Amino acid sequence: MPTPHDLCPVTWDGDAVRYLDQRRLPHDVRHERARSVEEIEAAIKTLAVRGAPAIGVFGAYGVALLRDLIADDEAFRAAAQRVREARPTAVNLAWAVDRVLAASNMLAEAKEIHREQIAMDEAMADAGLDLIPKNARILTHCNTGPIATAGGGTALGVIVAAQRAGKKPHVFVDETRPLLQGARLTYFELQQAGIDATLQVDGAAAIAMQRQHIDLVIVGADRIARNGDTANKIGTYGLAVLAAHHGIPFYVAAPRSTFDFAMRSGDEIHIEERAPEEVTAFGGTPVAPTGAAVYNPAFDVTPGHLVTAFITEYGVVKPPYAETIAALELRPRFSALI
Ligand code: MRU
Repeated sequence: MPTPHDLCPVTWDGDAVRYLDQRRLPHDVRHERARSVEEIEAAIKTLAVRGAPAIGVFGAYGVALLRDLIADDEAFRAAAQRVREARPTAVNLAWAVDRVLAASNMLAEAKEIHREQIAMDEAMADAGLDLIPKNARILTHCNTGPIATAGGGTALGVIVAAQRAGKKPHVFVDETRPLLQGARLTYFELQQAGIDATLQVDGAAAIAMQRQHIDLVIVGADRIARNGDTANKIGTYGLAVLAAHHGIPFYVAAPRSTFDFAMRSGDEIHIEERAPEEVTAFGGTPVAPTGAAVYNPAFDVTPGHLVTAFITEYGVVKPPYAETIAALELRPRFSALI
């Protein structure tokens, strides 16, 4: 059984950024070292490192490393830009790279971002605990645990806190097509935490809400606009519609760094579209007819009015989001509070 240290998704390794290759989980726990812009960019693009906060931490260390490796300022800026743009939807990546670029000591700033993420995840877990009833039956999507944040997790962090508080949650895990972050990573993390779980195909969410007494849905986020519109893994929007239909609360757990205060609504969010092979093949084996046309958005946008509340490191943020998210923007930097 791997230890939590074995599963640390990102660590600074002196002359490299060490990362857990999430594509191989759960059956192969393997770490790699990224030592160049090509390796850093490839790790993010191929989802070897994934999850909005984790790619932020990885990008931060990556840029600090590149500053050491690339003496020429212009070449360094171009390399940092490549890292910043490796994935477009999760705002945490650009946010973390910009923070490191603005710092006088880039490595110290990257370490601070990582330290803050761990503290933010703990605070989110505390903030969300009261929303989880005893013996809650919870539906979640994608992967939002330690592997996805380089801390304790966002949505999954709240669930783990509920387990530690003796609430005995039972989690219904969407497998999360097409890359199976739910089946491969979330189920694995729940097993590690000793939490009861049931795996289901994404299409089973509706009948699970109808027949399995789901009490709440909780997910993470990749980018949240000022009005509460939330980009998250493809399939999340459908879950929110279903939850509204069934009168089930729909929570989003995300740190303030996932809020994009410059965006007025989700219409402005760039949705990453990925390779057709992710859909036409399964585990590397082609399944669809050759030449099948594919639409493969990696994320969708849940309208803010379908989100019951956001769980942040500053506490629970409820509607009306135009006011409460504006107030969140004005809160002091989290590091000043810890
Ligand atoms: O494409 P991925 O696997 O990076 O997408 C990740 C998600 O959508 C997560 O739900 C999100 O980043 C929340 S993270 C803790």
